[in-house]
Amino acid sequence: MARIAVVAGDGIGPEVVGQARKVIDAVLPGVEATEYDLGAARYHRTGEVLPDSVLDELAGHDAILLGAVGDPTVPPGVLERGLLLKLRFAFDQYVNLRPSRLWPGVAGPLAAVKPGEVDLVVVREGTEGLYAGAGGSLHRDTPAEVATEESLNTRHGVERVIRDAFARARRRERRKVTLVHKTNVLTHAGSLWARAFAAVAADFPDVTTEYQHVDAAAMFLVTNPSRYDVVVTDNLFGDILTDIAAAVTGGIGLAASGCINPEGRYPSMFEPVHGSAPDIAGRGLADPVAAVLSAALLLDQLGHADAAARVTAAVATELAGRTPGAPLRTEEVGDRLAGHAVA
Ligand code: NAD
Ligand code: IPM
Ligand code: MN
Repeated sequence: MARIAVVAGDGIGPEVVGQARKVIDAVLPGVEATEYDLGAARYHRTGEVLPDSVLDELAGHDAILLGAVGDPTVPPGVLERGLLLKLRFAFDQYVNLRPSRLWPGVAGPLAAVKPGEVDLVVVREGTEGLYAGAGGSLHRDTPAEVATEESLNTRHGVERVIRDAFARARRRERRKVTLVHKTNVLTHAGSLWARAFAAVAADFPDVTTEYQHVDAAAMFLVTNPSRYDVVVTDNLFGDILTDIAAAVTGGIGLAASGCINPEGRYPSMFEPVHGSAPDIAGRGLADPVAAVLSAALLLDQLGHADAAARVTAAVATELAGRTPGAPLRTEEVGDRLAGHAVA
């Protein structure tokens, strides 16, 4: 039986992960889940963010389910970099998979787009780009202060994520990959991405390709999201575009993700796209659907396609029955989803 590690984290993390665990237990009783106390509380208590011993233990699991990381009482970056990005990097989770669909019953903000008309997946590079941490600052807190933040792009890193995107497109109906970058300005990294994209495309003659600059892609995600099938892009562009994709498909509370190490050398990690939502934390108001759909991605990755499909169907039933704008209770949604998933 699968052994999963659970990092509930901060803010609404524990609230939504609690519901995801309920649903996993409903569809796959007997999963061994071990909780790891990481995040703001541990940091305040012990000063630790992610000790090496815990990293080693996490490495021994089949997958990680994560809630959210980040808290207003901790300086920005300490937990985001020290915990979340450290996990993505240490476990070489280079495919940051972020699907977006407009579900029946969900009122997206776009009048012209009907349910079923958006079904896209962003394959966001997960280990490089501006997230690499290259850069520095000089003359801090003086008028002469200078800060740099460099984007790291390796041929190996870029090519492997593009190849993954093409392989995914081949398994989908439309078989289309859109490369999103900013080749007109970022001429070093952009050129590397464009050449790697062309080289990989040559191996997938059955897949249609297109290229868009990121500013245009941000616009088209709002004006015509139906045009996308698989989108491949770098780490920061993917971060921003997936919040837009979430917004146009009914909100961040529904957006799931997988941080995947496709070779299975390290555990993959599954987490909602959203953060710890300090503005609503502790009140039982968070939508757990994003966490539950992330659990479905986890189950699928572990070879439990049937259990994953039952979770996805349970979400479809839940969303079809919602009244747009009506308030929800996290626990109640979790109970309903677990009920639908076993039925
Ligand atoms: P956020 O995603 O936490 O919140 C943005 C807005 O969306 C808030 O109004 C929030 O209430 C709402 N929201 C988010 N999830 C929701 C849900 N499930 N149901 C209903 N509403 C929801 O982003 P933020 O406010 O920019 O960041 C807060 C903290 O989370 C920061 O510390 C940030 O670094 C961190 N963060 C972590 C992750 C992660 O762990 N993967 C992702 C994004 C942000
Ligand atoms: C996300 C978050 C993270 C990211 C942060 C918290 C490091 O915004 O998962 O989208 O930028 O990847
Ligand atoms: Mn983000």
